Amino acid sequence: MSRLIINGKKRLRGEAEVQGAKNSVLPILAASILCSDTSVIHNCPDLSDVRATINILRFLGCKAELSGGTLVCDSSGLNATHIPDSLMRELRSSIIFLGALLARTGSASLGFPGGCEIGPRPIDIHLKALEALGVSIKDEHGIFRCTAPEGLHGGRVSLSFPSVGATENVMICAALAEGITVITNAAREPEICDLADYLNSCGAVIGGAGEGTIVIEGVQKLHGAQHTVIPDRIAAATLMSCAASTGGSIMLKNVIPSHLGAVLSVFEECGSDVLIRGGCIMLDSPLRSCAPKIIRTMPYPGFPTDAQAPIMGMAARSRGTTLFVENIFENRYLHVSGLLRMGANIKVEGKVAVLQGVESLHGAEVNALDLRGAAALITAALGAEGKTTLGGVKYLDRGYDCFEAQLQSLGADIQRV
Ligand code: EPZ
Repeated sequence: MSRLIINGKKRLRGEAEVQGAKNSVLPILAASILCSDTSVIHNCPDLSDVRATINILRFLGCKAELSGGTLVCDSSGLNATHIPDSLMRELRSSIIFLGALLARTGSASLGFPGGCEIGPRPIDIHLKALEALGVSIKDEHGIFRCTAPEGLHGGRVSLSFPSVGATENVMICAALAEGITVITNAAREPEICDLADYLNSCGAVIGGAGEGTIVIEGVQKLHGAQHTVIPDRIAAATLMSCAASTGGSIMLKNVIPSHLGAVLSVFEECGSDVLIRGGCIMLDSPLRSCAPKIIRTMPYPGFPTDAQAPIMGMAARSRGTTLFVENIFENRYLHVSGLLRMGANIKVEGKVAVLQGVESLHGAEVNALDLRGAAALITAALGAEGKTTLGGVKYLDRGYDCFEAQLQSLGADIQRV
């Protein structure tokens, strides 16, 4: 089992290239099976979640190869409509194959998805939405046998919560359904827009992505396309947290600043200078940041839940008090126990966490329990005195591509053993 060894207090300096967005490429790869030919996806990060998705594509009879940041997927050979539990459990976005298999073949059998244990992560909103498109679902002891007896048809889908995954599942399924589908209370995340852009380049007719109402006009057939995945806004936020945690000064390239509005204003509140130049962000941080007053996670364009953990890792050594309110997931403070071992002062009460910034943190033996929690512990360890040993690196590898190499190039003393 590999671990990371981090010796803190090295100020990060230099330039880093932001990876392609995990939460964009995963639904796009599921959507690629709608086209019964080849798609070429550029700026694809090399992540364990991407490799798990490649395994699902291959199980379904598709060809999928990732090399040098480009993923070529040929789904002409698709010959299955079920996904075994062993593959479903590998990641959350396996559930997006539900809408994709229904659109391509008219049926799908699969169980609950996996994903970080940051809450129960039900799929009720997905299932209810797909039923509005004519899908009939039989729950056979946790395996959902889904068919479209009268074929898929457009419908009005009103999401009870702007669920990112449910919005993606409906967009994908509706793309080949007969007629018009209108999704209200849709998720507005940039990854939704990226998926719509990919589908439209395949011949879909989707309007309004990024707004609360998305309109999909079903078409007969889709063809493969080339697509470049947007930069990962959460990876960008994580690198900025690492820099600010060390009083560093970095320049991020290949980033879309407008995707980071809520995050950039937090760094400015904490005393960092943030400069935007085209597709670059320059961040220059004080040796010890001020604590952000309140971090309230919300659906986009509010503060992203995925950035809560890295920001907490940075705020642990700040000046002042931060109130965290985690409104999206029920159990997203798994990184607090590790931060406490490093000397942080945090009290968790349900969805609220109150953090008192301390003057210094010390290294410790800690374990990551989820993807962004791993990022939080690394962020804090980079600003801590002494050595930190981090277990649970497999969680980090789900969503960050060569993260320690990036940090090393910025001057961090971090090794994988
Ligand atoms: C996506 O998860 C992302 N994952 C998450 O990123 C991200 O945190 C989340 O969106 C919110 O932005 C991927 O895109 C692969 P949701 P998703 O459906 O689609 C509840 C990361 O670290 N809900 O918007 O699963 C759900 O339990 C990951 O990169 C239902 O109750 O998120 C949660 O409380 C973590 N029923 C809330 O809605 C449903 O049917 C938001 O979930 C679906 C969701």
